[in-house]
Amino acid sequence: MTGEIDWGNLSFTFTKTDYNVRCYYRDGKWGELETSSSEMISMHMAATCLHYGQEAFEGLKAFRGKDGKIRIFRLEDNAKRMASSADGIMMARVPDEIFIEAVKKVVSLNKRFVPPMESGASLYIRPLLIGTGPKVGVSPADEYLFMVFVTPVGPYFKEGFKPTNLMITRKYDRAAPNGTGSIKVGGNYAASLVSGNLAKEKGYSAVLYLDSKEKKYIDECGPANFFGIKNNTYITPESKSVLPSITNKSLIALAEDLGLKTERRPVPYEELETFEEVGACGTAAVISPVAKIDDLDNGKSYVYSKDGNPGPISVKLYNKLRAIQYGEEPDKFGWIT
Ligand code: COI
Repeated sequence: MTGEIDWGNLSFTFTKTDYNVRCYYRDGKWGELETSSSEMISMHMAATCLHYGQEAFEGLKAFRGKDGKIRIFRLEDNAKRMASSADGIMMARVPDEIFIEAVKKVVSLNKRFVPPMESGASLYIRPLLIGTGPKVGVSPADEYLFMVFVTPVGPYFKEGFKPTNLMITRKYDRAAPNGTGSIKVGGNYAASLVSGNLAKEKGYSAVLYLDSKEKKYIDECGPANFFGIKNNTYITPESKSVLPSITNKSLIALAEDLGLKTERRPVPYEELETFEEVGACGTAAVISPVAKIDDLDNGKSYVYSKDGNPGPISVKLYNKLRAIQYGEEPDKFGWIT
């Protein structure tokens, strides 16, 4: 059946695989991991995930190297981030051991769906945690379901590692400063659908959000983090409402390893004029270089690539990251399982 998958032309969509794994939290404790070949879940109609948004998810990837080995990138970091998301919306935490075992198991059960290295594709791993216990009043559930499915994917933005365009609008916010922007919960993504759709209708890949309070600083970049590069420095926003991207954290480490300076700090809107290179980064997006940002509110445009190619530092960072993920370079940071 995998013979039918055109590995080199995958986009970021769902392809059915063989198995997913599930674990239930009931009576105050987590049960055993279960394996399922069904894509369906059955739950109470008053489950809190359906009414009150008790839902968090993760995104990580497995890569098949030239040596045939399958490498999962930064598994422990994803386990920790999901625990922080669970705390943020009062869900039962998935213990790291269960998270790690579940991911290893689902990848191993679906080995045949890990794309070959030459395709540049990977196996996307989607853990999710949902409140399944019934409640009518607004309060946390007593029961939870943690599940992990996988699906082979290509690039998130259709351009892949070719520069793409972003737009700025001040008419929409993605997350409030003291809200849930820094945890990976479905509500943040629901809140970005109308503005994200507007961007797509206008031919942009995503919205570059400004901070919700003052609209003075760069915040999240659609479903990814923002970075800018200038004067040999990798700069990324410090903000209470951006998701702590594990890819961004990795790029900071790689940038330092390459001898660049790095800064995580508030990035004023005016600084857009000064960057030599700009990109969006995340598990799904990897690095998506940015060609141009149009500010729809004042007609200004910021151009970073005129020739349709990514900038030299973005290329170096991308190649380093991919080399580690596919096992072409030693894993000196201890990122690979
Ligand atoms: C990821 O980068 O893994 C994400 O979760 C972004 C997205 C596909 C919503």
